[in-house]
Amino acid sequence: METEDRIRIKPADERDLHEVSEIENASFNSPWTLDFFKHELYNPVSFFYILKIQDKLAGYVIFWIFEDEAHIANIAIHPDNRKMGYGEQLLNWIFDFCRKKGAMTISLEVSEINEAARQLYSKTGFKSVGRRAKYYEDRSDALILTKILE
Ligand SMILES: CC(C)(COP(=O)(O)OP(=O)(O)OC[C@H]1O[C@@H](n2cnc3c(N)ncnc32)[C@H](O)[C@@H]1OP(=O)(O)O)[C@@H](O)C(=O)NCCC(=O)NCCS
Repeated sequence: METEDRIRIKPADERDLHEVSEIENASFNSPWTLDFFKHELYNPVSFFYILKIQDKLAGYVIFWIFEDEAHIANIAIHPDNRKMGYGEQLLNWIFDFCRKKGAMTISLEVSEINEAARQLYSKTGFKSVGRRAKYYEDRSDALILTKILE
């Protein structure tokens, strides 16, 4: 898919994993390993996409679709490309994709202390429906967020 400002969203392949991993390591305290990403390339319920700005890999998302429910397992934008609207564009693209595949809801977990992500999800219509206590390695709680895909 191509959008107006030279963004491309396309399926990831093994050649992308090194750059994906670099973004992951710069984004999370307990990053996924390369093997974890590799596994997702071959997971039949998984959709693993990268976002490219011109030719630079600037973000990625992994989401799963089970029947009419979608779940975002991982999403990040390269630190150099944040706060420019790409995270929001990627989410809106995911919503359209999941709707077309028949998903009626989309959910995810976010750390209660991840202010940037919480703001992004609030802006894009997610609502908090629950909490998992001390879910993350830093002992922060996970908020369970969901959105109806109208
Ligand atoms: C969360 C993340 C994906 C946001 O991506 P992004 O491209 O920077 O977000 P956008 O530029 O599209 O921002 C869209 C909205 O998100 C919110 N937002 C984004 N960054 C923010 C920040 N640092 N502080 C507060 N709100 C922020 C704002 O509401 C913003 O809308 P606005 O520009 O009208 O104020 C990015 O910060 C990231 O990759 N973080 C590390 C990985 C991560 O936390 N992933 C989510 C795990 S659940």
